[in-house]
Amino acid sequence: MTLRRHKCLGLLWPGGKRALPIALTTGILAGTVFTGEPDQVTSIFEPLSTPAELSYQTALLALAVCAVIFLIVGGILVYSIIRFRRRASDDGSEPPQIYGSNQIELAWTVLPILIVFVLVLVTARTIADVQNHPAPPDALKVTVVGHQWWWEIRYPELGFVTANELHVPVSYADKRKPTFLRLESADVAHSFWVPQLAGKTDLIPNRVNTMWIEPKEVGTYLGNCAEYCGTQHARMLLRVIAHEPDDFGRWVAAQQQSGTEDAQMKTGRELFFATSCVNCHTISGTAAKGKFGPDLTHLMSRATLASGAAPNNPGKLRAWVRDPQTIKNGALMPNMQLSDEELDQLVAYLLTLK
Ligand code: CUA
Repeated sequence: MTLRRHKCLGLLWPGGKRALPIALTTGILAGTVFTGEPDQVTSIFEPLSTPAELSYQTALLALAVCAVIFLIVGGILVYSIIRFRRRASDDGSEPPQIYGSNQIELAWTVLPILIVFVLVLVTARTIADVQNHPAPPDALKVTVVGHQWWWEIRYPELGFVTANELHVPVSYADKRKPTFLRLESADVAHSFWVPQLAGKTDLIPNRVNTMWIEPKEVGTYLGNCAEYCGTQHARMLLRVIAHEPDDFGRWVAAQQQSGTEDAQMKTGRELFFATSCVNCHTISGTAAKGKFGPDLTHLMSRATLASGAAPNNPGKLRAWVRDPQTIKNGALMPNMQLSDEELDQLVAYLLTLK
């Protein structure tokens, strides 16, 4: 039995486009995710994947039940306030005191128990539907390992490793292609959360959890780590990129290539292998086999650096190598104290890792 945490409370609050105005503010706080890019906000109220849709339907039911209770209680309250307000003709005497009514007390005990019971059953069924969903034989299998503060993404059956961007095929109704994830942690507890794709599942040291996603539209889905895991928990961002099957095949073929050897970048490459870069990073097809940091074989195929802390462009890459702390304070990558010239050479080499 695996330990999973479905933090359903977050689902009970509306947010995003289809929100009820009454709870909009709360919804923005609880139902959306900081993505590092202010113009991009993701929402649990726009599910685009089977497990997320199941959670969404359950959340809507709970929300509807709560809304009805709110209207009844609020309605009776408002009625009483108006109907029994103080009037000029009041003589100041106490109204009749009614105490003890078995019928009423029974009603307000049994009714809430029934409501909670129904919600528990529906929630349990949704959780079971998601967790017990069998993996089709041709499902893509990916292992995600949480690190402080980045995501290692392994494709064991395809034979390569990448970081922070999970590429998967899109799933069509007539040709389903879900992705099953094996979640592990290299250090502390993290939590994998891409709101439009599925609920949260924790990555726990010395334990394997599983979950699955099934994006139904091509595109980039933003997510983040949802379990406080240290200083840079907030910059442990995640992207899931869903491709057309052919595009996904091309992406896989590119990732399976070894690192390129551009003769012009000899100095930068030698620098990489002469410093301790090589102790932490892997570049497949070379002597760099470090496992502590992200695999750099196809570094430049990724959209961001440092797990979404900065866009991946030559300027930011140089700033990152020069002193990672300026971009992500607390990052475990050390400042290598390189001169400007060495930085230029090293970055020129890194830029060839496409
Ligand atoms: Cu990893 Cu929070």
